[in-house]
Amino acid sequence: MAAPLPPRTTDWWRDAVIYQVYPRSFADGDGDGTGDLAGVRARLPYLAELGVDAVWFTPWYASPMVDGGYDVADYRAVDPAFGTLEEAEKLIAEAAELGIRVIVDIVPNHVSDQHPWFRAALAAGPGSPERARFHFRPGRGTHGELPPNDWPSQFAGSTWTRVPDGEWYLHLFTPEQPDLNWAHPDVRREHEEILRFWFARGVAGVRIDSAALLTKDPELPDFVEGHDPHPYIDLDEIHDIYRSWRAIADEYGGVFVGEVWLPDPERFARYLRPDELHTAFNFSFLTCPWEPDRLRRAIDDTLAEHAPVGAPATWVLCNHDVTRTVTRYGREDTGFDFAAKRFGIPADLALGTRRARAAALLTLALPGSVYLYQGEELGLPEADIPLDRIQDPMHFRSGGTDPGRDGCRVPLPWEAEAPAYGFGGAAPWLPQPADWAGYAVDRQRADPDSMLSLYREALRLRRGEPGFGDGSLTWLPAPAGVLSLARTDGLVCVVNLSDAPADLPPYDRLLLTSDPLDAEGRLPRDTAVWLRATHD
Ligand code: NOJ
Repeated sequence: MAAPLPPRTTDWWRDAVIYQVYPRSFADGDGDGTGDLAGVRARLPYLAELGVDAVWFTPWYASPMVDGGYDVADYRAVDPAFGTLEEAEKLIAEAAELGIRVIVDIVPNHVSDQHPWFRAALAAGPGSPERARFHFRPGRGTHGELPPNDWPSQFAGSTWTRVPDGEWYLHLFTPEQPDLNWAHPDVRREHEEILRFWFARGVAGVRIDSAALLTKDPELPDFVEGHDPHPYIDLDEIHDIYRSWRAIADEYGGVFVGEVWLPDPERFARYLRPDELHTAFNFSFLTCPWEPDRLRRAIDDTLAEHAPVGAPATWVLCNHDVTRTVTRYGREDTGFDFAAKRFGIPADLALGTRRARAAALLTLALPGSVYLYQGEELGLPEADIPLDRIQDPMHFRSGGTDPGRDGCRVPLPWEAEAPAYGFGGAAPWLPQPADWAGYAVDRQRADPDSMLSLYREALRLRRGEPGFGDGSLTWLPAPAGVLSLARTDGLVCVVNLSDAPADLPPYDRLLLTSDPLDAEGRLPRDTAVWLRATHD
């Protein structure tokens, strides 16, 4: 069992900086080309030095890896490619010793088709209790040759697959990820036990995958555009599940972060009521273009939607599903939209990097917690993956038009001169671009102007300034295209998204700039600064 967690500050999660580790691509301890827990353990000092408060691990459980581990075959076992349960326990304890909390990823909407429940369901046949844990149905059409309904998949293509005995089963994602039937008591009981299993091992939190999709209209009716409620997104019944989860989390002092993609702010906030989830990812900020008015509105809307339920906002620029920040900000369209993904969109990486540096300071100055996706602190761009090396099912299910998500999942570069940039071994599971030496941790560590140095300094300052993190925000008057926001203790963050250099408000101290001020002491375009304002 893991050692006790570091002493709990009150509600640490309200302003934590949480680093997302994609274990397959973080560090490879055994040199087989796949990242693993041994690699993470060896690099924990790096994370402590970076100054993060917690680490969220995308799924490390036993999985055939059809969807990067989001197809779980056994929630109580670590995949052998990553290590063992004992190693996970050691990792949790070692992280705790360094003051880093661990968040695991629970995938309640679906399991792998190799999960014992699904194998039993296939073997047991139509009408069996084993099938009742999933959504099996006869097909439509004279011979049942048509799927039971027309639901669109989250991954393009059909949501139904037919099995040899003629029945169909539902899968919102790939056919290898059958959806669980959340109306079944076994499903609820099992997940409550899984939560206890990981909380008892010392994890501080749980990220909930596809958190708004679990419950389905029992009739499984056809999808009708604009019909409310949707047959499987955000049904009212789902909140009952999270209330029971919250009671379990409270027993252990654990916290939740939900993956809740919902356009309606009021519906989103329901997940954050005091007896439900503590936090949820802020996708409106993640998808927001690098435009001053849109960003300001996204920030205001976020704070306004969280306020009535008393939940802190989260701020996310990137994760393992979306285009990396420096590439996105270097494009003509700086927003993110799954539907718009395609090959060959040009990006000005120098511009994108400049903006990503400014966005880092903006994000870290906002009230709430911040998620940082591995490699973001290195300013990694989205990589082009050769067609014959792509692994992501999103690419295949789009008919090859969507490049998929592998471009943001490339193994990290640690050492500029080492094979595979020191990731471990010689042949990483996804190829690393030939021009990544300059992004390697060892090079960036030695360069005070690197993205890594900027993040380290920003995290160090943020940690020492109680005015950052949770709390209120006030907009200050600023020229068009400039965002100027004040926190408490005189802290001010100014971001210039206009075309011209901007004058700064009066200040006593300049704490940090994302790029240097110009010779006149003005803030250049696509630059952010943290100041301590002059006392009145
Ligand atoms: C969201 C995860 O972030 C993504 O990577 C995964 O493919 C889907 N949920 C399905 O589990």
